[in-house]
Amino acid sequence: MKIIGLVASPHGEQSSTRRLVSAILDGAQKAGAQVELVDLAKARIGYCVACGTCYKTGVCPIPDEFNGIYARVKAADGVVWGSPDYFQTVSAQMKAYIDRQADGIHCQMMDGKYGCAVSVAGGPSFQEVVDYLNGVFVAMGGSVVGGVGASASNPGSMDTAEIKARDLGRELVKSIAERRVYPDQEPVHCAMRERFRHLVNLNKDVWAHEFKFWKDKGWL
Ligand SMILES: Cc1cc2nc3c(=O)[nH]c(=O)nc-3n(C[C@H](O)[C@H](O)[C@H](O)COP(=O)(O)O)c2cc1C
Repeated sequence: MKIIGLVASPHGEQSSTRRLVSAILDGAQKAGAQVELVDLAKARIGYCVACGTCYKTGVCPIPDEFNGIYARVKAADGVVWGSPDYFQTVSAQMKAYIDRQADGIHCQMMDGKYGCAVSVAGGPSFQEVVDYLNGVFVAMGGSVVGGVGASASNPGSMDTAEIKARDLGRELVKSIAERRVYPDQEPVHCAMRERFRHLVNLNKDVWAHEFKFWKDKGWL
């Protein structure tokens, strides 16, 4: 079982977000998973330029580090997304990564995978970032196991969150092993499947990769 954690803070080793993602990965590793942490802020990941090439070929033509990281995410069973709260949303580093998965939402690329999200804010607003990240993961077909966040200005908040993060790592491994179904997320999966089935069919002459992907999955 492979679990990959992506951290999008420019604070490197000093990042509070990284501390919580590392605690999740530590819990997951102790429960038997093989884990990897990727520092998105150190990776060269440019903006999506909306060229639509990934819809046609399944590969982004921008020559940077995105394709390598995305391939590792696609090969994982579990995904942890971590971002600091920047202006009530994710950091630009995380948003650049998310946007580059444009084919990923059309192809419901997180289908069958399990995930959880992390955010640390200076103030109390970390939960909206956790909810945003988990919302994107479900919209991409994935199953969300939980989330954890903390307020850097609240003493004790990080210590409590770190304990919760370790438990969440263990829970993530259990969910993957048991192939848990989360009934509250199923309506979103159904709605996204329906929406993109229609879109991929409509564009089948130009989006050759996506049409074949959907056909091979047996979803059309
Ligand atoms: C550009 C920028 C925007 C930020 N915006 C917010 C914000 O809107 N709300 C908030 O509570 N904290 C905000 N912060 C503070 C960070 O969320 C906080 O320092 C967090 O602990 C950083 O996590 P990290 O150590 O993982 O990078 C902002 C920080 C920066 C640099």
